[in-house]
Amino acid sequence: MADPLSLVNDLLLPVFADIAGQPADPVVRPSDRADAQVNGALPLAKQLGTNPREIAQRVVDSGALANVCSDVEIAGPGFINLTFADSFLGAELGAVAVDDRLGISPDPHPRTVVIDYSAPNVAKEMHAGHLRTTVIGDALVRMLEFGGHTVIRENHIGDWGRPFGMLIEHLLDIGEDVAAEGMQQGDLDGFYKAANAKFTDDEEFQARARDRVVKLQSYDPETIALWERLVEMSTDYFNQVYDKLGVLLTDDDLMGESKYQSVMPVAYERLRAAGLIEESDGAEVVFPPGFTNRDNEPLPLIVKSRTGAFMYATSDLACVLDRVERLQADLLLYVVGAPQAQHFQMVFAVAKMAGWLTDDVDAVHIPFGSVLGDDRKMLRSRTGGAVKLVELLDEAVERAAEAVADKNPDLDDDERAEVARTIGIGAVKYADLSTDRIKDYVFDWDRMLAFEGNTAPYLQYAHARICSIFRRADVERTSVRSTAIDLGEPQERELAKRLLAYPTALADTLATYSPHKLCTYLFDLAQDFTSFYEHCPVMKADEPTRASRLALCDLTARTLEHGLGLLGITAPEAM
Ligand code: ARG
Repeated sequence: MADPLSLVNDLLLPVFADIAGQPADPVVRPSDRADAQVNGALPLAKQLGTNPREIAQRVVDSGALANVCSDVEIAGPGFINLTFADSFLGAELGAVAVDDRLGISPDPHPRTVVIDYSAPNVAKEMHAGHLRTTVIGDALVRMLEFGGHTVIRENHIGDWGRPFGMLIEHLLDIGEDVAAEGMQQGDLDGFYKAANAKFTDDEEFQARARDRVVKLQSYDPETIALWERLVEMSTDYFNQVYDKLGVLLTDDDLMGESKYQSVMPVAYERLRAAGLIEESDGAEVVFPPGFTNRDNEPLPLIVKSRTGAFMYATSDLACVLDRVERLQADLLLYVVGAPQAQHFQMVFAVAKMAGWLTDDVDAVHIPFGSVLGDDRKMLRSRTGGAVKLVELLDEAVERAAEAVADKNPDLDDDERAEVARTIGIGAVKYADLSTDRIKDYVFDWDRMLAFEGNTAPYLQYAHARICSIFRRADVERTSVRSTAIDLGEPQERELAKRLLAYPTALADTLATYSPHKLCTYLFDLAQDFTSFYEHCPVMKADEPTRASRLALCDLTARTLEHGLGLLGITAPEAM
């Protein structure tokens, strides 16, 4: 890791161990007063019953930081304030500049990760909630893959269950071509509602639908063929949306509820054999310890209903089994909205009781809040219905096209269309990713498309501006990567420290599966770059300062592009 803080930590570990007679944490932290602070002398002094300033003095006298710091000062009761040597920061940056991975090593303990995200339902529209799971999941996939983990994407679409009886009958009634055309245009809800209306009003239809479910569940070939057509029409449409969004999901990642139908009886039998199943109100349930309802009564997870049907929970138990035993995953991630929190906690608890989730396997629900409209209620369309994701994305691109035409009238039509797509989609994704995922956020066109503030256009623009510095100077970006970096001005040092903190920012982001932390880092970086560029002339500087500053520019652009890339956002070279 290139981050100076972790390097200081590594250098001080043996010194602290020597003083303590056993391993002790040096407690290295960022600081407002200096570049960093070492606070470990205080707890260690308490432990040893000595004076913290004396311990701090021994740390300083050890000389461990001699090559790294230009100033080391003991302050107050025994804090140590560090100022990094410019030569040290410059050398660290030099090492990052020649590294394609920007100083970030793959995780030394790679895992096999199954990540469950997006998961729309067949013959149902994709809404703003699907935007969140799709975009957050996509960013996490990219970060985990970059970290060297084996990542298995699973799109757990809702493609099975009772409604499919009426959906298939409706398909037969209107004919495949009409159905396909409607869904191709994104009218999935219309299809569903029409089927549902007939089911409510028409007894003959209702009877047909019921028969059809039975046929589906017994895998009658003709019924399965119709069902497959229906699923395909929906997934074709989902793919259009994924394509617009520029996410990694493909048909190979489809792993819908239908795929677990044969695993559910296995899961059920194993719970039975383990003696975990109890009867409650005629249903078969498991009581995981620690879950109670409002009246403090134990809360059951229903595995088989009174009518003998497996439940949503059963399918998720089957999922756990499949992911752990067949896929040999040791990290299970579920990017699913906050309302399903208790469902997942209970499923995980039961899977632990059954011994499917062991200490070596982690299962994590990654919840997120809602997308709200101006009125702070769930985002609605002008006509009052839920907003279709596809319309949202098209509008984003249209609005971005207007902004681009204003800003850069010189772009030709093709370029403008491409830049508009990049900015519009980037803005929507970034607005979603940059707020703490657990919170709700207000969907605000003007804010997300602004070229100022913590937005994708601001970061994309910062990147494009650096690219244009090189174009105007007629300097090849790669040619400055082995230049010695020489830091003198405070803004250069700030930018340098920020660049070196990229590995830590990424590690923090993944540690809590919180993409907004990476966004905050990139925003800080772009701001540090702006003040550097205001205070430190680049093109007009004399050599070797000019080359050194160009190297800082190049590394900033690469870090911005890379970080945005991990968020699933493209950074164009001109806009
Ligand atoms: N299709 C489900 C829904 O719309 C989400 C599925 C999430 N994944 C899972 N393994 N339960 O609510």
